[in-house]
Amino acid sequence: MVAGKGWFDDNHLGIDQGPIIAMIANYRNGFVWERMKNQSVHRSRPLSRGIQRRLVGRQVLTAARVAALLAAAAVCLGGSAAPLASQATRPAPSTRPMTPRAADRRMDRFVDSVLARLTLEEKLGQLTQYRGQFGLTGPQTPEAGAADIRAGRVGSFLGVHGAELTRQMQRVAVEESRAKIPVLFAHDVIHGFRTIFPVSIAEAASFDPAAVQRAARVAAAEAAAHGLHWTFAPMVDIARDPRWGRIVEGAGEDPYLGSTMAAARVFGFQGASLRDTLSILATAKHFVGYGAAEGGRDYNVAEIPSRTLREIYLPPFHAAANAGARSVMAAFNEVDGIPMHAHRDLIDGVLRREWGWDGILVSDYTGVMELMNHGIAADSATAARVAVDAGVDVDMVSNFYMSHLPREVRSGRVNVAVIDSAVRRVLRAKYELGLFEDPYRYSSVARERALTLAPAFIAEARDMARRSIVLLKNEGNTLPLRKGLGSIAVIGPLADDGRSALGSWAAAGRPEDAVTPLAGIRQAMGTGTRVLYARGASVDSADTTGFTEAVRLTREADAVVLVVGEHQDMSAEARNRASIDLPGVQLGLVKAVKAAAGSKPVVAVLMNGRSLAIPWLADSVSAIVEAWYLGVQTGPALADVLFGDYNPAGRLPVSFPRAVGQIPVYYNHKNTGRPPLERERYTSKYIDVPWTPQWPFGHGLSYTTFSYSPVRVSANEIRPTDSVAVSVDVTNTGSRDGDEVVQLYVRDDAATVTRPLRMLKGFRRVPLKAGERQTVTFTLRPQDLAFYDLRMRHVVEPGTFTVWVGGSSLGGQSARFRVAGRVTEVRNRGALPVDWRP
Ligand code: BGC
Repeated sequence: MVAGKGWFDDNHLGIDQGPIIAMIANYRNGFVWERMKNQSVHRSRPLSRGIQRRLVGRQVLTAARVAALLAAAAVCLGGSAAPLASQATRPAPSTRPMTPRAADRRMDRFVDSVLARLTLEEKLGQLTQYRGQFGLTGPQTPEAGAADIRAGRVGSFLGVHGAELTRQMQRVAVEESRAKIPVLFAHDVIHGFRTIFPVSIAEAASFDPAAVQRAARVAAAEAAAHGLHWTFAPMVDIARDPRWGRIVEGAGEDPYLGSTMAAARVFGFQGASLRDTLSILATAKHFVGYGAAEGGRDYNVAEIPSRTLREIYLPPFHAAANAGARSVMAAFNEVDGIPMHAHRDLIDGVLRREWGWDGILVSDYTGVMELMNHGIAADSATAARVAVDAGVDVDMVSNFYMSHLPREVRSGRVNVAVIDSAVRRVLRAKYELGLFEDPYRYSSVARERALTLAPAFIAEARDMARRSIVLLKNEGNTLPLRKGLGSIAVIGPLADDGRSALGSWAAAGRPEDAVTPLAGIRQAMGTGTRVLYARGASVDSADTTGFTEAVRLTREADAVVLVVGEHQDMSAEARNRASIDLPGVQLGLVKAVKAAAGSKPVVAVLMNGRSLAIPWLADSVSAIVEAWYLGVQTGPALADVLFGDYNPAGRLPVSFPRAVGQIPVYYNHKNTGRPPLERERYTSKYIDVPWTPQWPFGHGLSYTTFSYSPVRVSANEIRPTDSVAVSVDVTNTGSRDGDEVVQLYVRDDAATVTRPLRMLKGFRRVPLKAGERQTVTFTLRPQDLAFYDLRMRHVVEPGTFTVWVGGSSLGGQSARFRVAGRVTEVRNRGALPVDWRP
């Protein structure tokens, strides 16, 4: 039933008030208010005692009752925008989902009782994931129908969604199958479901984990309202090679930034509790090393030394596991000769035993089948056996488990205990989602209608989009542009491309939902300014006939905004590029427009899913804005930045090379024995391009300026088991309010194995009013100073450490401290403190 603009179900009462959506989650136990508002942080607090009293115990709501509750809630919400409560008042998500609490024991007893009733085939059904109508991301594989569900052959679906459809399919599972076990509906909800947010690499550029958590929360709510229980996100693969198309799906090149983004997204997707029907299971993928594909060629082998694996590629997975991610997906690649779908040491050894993680390990799409192509399984039965023995619980669409494991188990080649453990993990997830109590709790048509593209979600998407924009260059304060311009020419193949605005992996996003850059600029300009538009060229053809019109409009206009880059289908899975320049004739278009513009302001807006090598543009165009793919609110967010309503503060999560031949180029590299020196011939560099990146990791400008005081360390000398505080005063020295992303880097000056020149160990996005000064303090723990030594022990070694604090990975204020004492082993608990929250 829907009352007014509100909706409710057994667990929520939602009130959509234009820019505000309020949800009373679990109103029966008076759990939490969630409030999402454009400019404010995501806040929650326990319900007031008065409201709790009125809600507790009410199982059935009449229309009159709902109206009364809506009114009460509206009073609550009508209050001021003053902070309701700090983040700390929100119930902390469980970081160790499998601690033996009483509830867990109850769950385990229940799960065991279900397991005991299942036949071997039904157990394997739980481990089988079929592709649904939207689930094609690899070879054509069979789809399951009602007969398969009825026969207990399906545990979960990929790419099936919709409240009505999932209800119908669930009905077959729980009413017509023998075991009556609900099925899970999974999908790739990467950066929004229908309300599409910026692509993941863009969100990482915000350096704002709290905002990223909010974005994932909205994605979860909308996806859950469409019947989904499980997302295959976050993608947490570190990528140092922008040729690799999937760099767009991750958080870039740095393990610390990647860890914060991984955890923030897990918290966002899974919420405070999976009992909340607006929460979905998160999946950290692709375990592990997928981003290290040789040559940037997707699915290719990854050569990763074990120290690099531990220090660069594993940390974001560790962070996701610590944040309670209920699932992890195996990667398509091999690591050191062992395909990840067969990598028992990493799955069972590191993930499960070392980290104590006990969620569902899902294969990637046909990943089990691909063990044959990898050449480690001569036939499909061996592939199934090797995968399940390695710890892969769920077989996504290969259907090898179902086809072969009955015989493998009956013949004794696979131990049934292995199958039982895998099934337990799947059943636990179903239990935790509350599906055994009510299999239809995610399939509410009213909720689906109320939450799809809800105004509050759109407002969040705009906010996230603005935070993700990186101002790469702004010579002579070209930006922001004056709003009172007589005319502005918007030129370029991506200026009015709604599909590209959404980016890749846009789930249920529709191009018509997206406000393009052109539409956003038109809205922002109103009627006083003439907005002229020419496409100029297409993204990737050789046709230059559109240049004439572009040049004509440039001559007519007072300023030009060029929107160029890659269309959305040039990055993501299987979308690798051997050259990463501006495709097609776009550079020619930029040159023609620039020449025609004379002294008029020309701004280049880049839309792309990877870092690009664009040296001419970088040198010749005075203002460059990195807009990635910003989602449904691309246009408004961009206009906010272009015309100064929002002061950009995004930072690059990946280095931008000058030329493709420099790849890999990343900030946390080693010094080498011959570090590059301009005048020294025999040093590590190129003869045709500088060795430095065009723009380094962490780079991004603002419309204001910031200054840093010298760095203070709390002690000049510490023991290996001590922490040290690093502080700096940051001042907004300009005349506009703005956010500074304060970044902390560390170097172990000399150690028994070589260490990176610097490593990010902390950052904070700090809003500062014009003239305001704030002290920012970071704590460096022993964990942050430790590394894997010759014997692969995680140790802190005595010696000096240098720290830098600044606004990018280059430069900054530095200080030094000494660790005195003995080499000390430190248990690696992950890059983030265990109680870390966005
Ligand atoms: C991708 C995964 C994705 C899966 C299901 C695969 O091709 O590698 O990231 O989750 O398809 O769509």
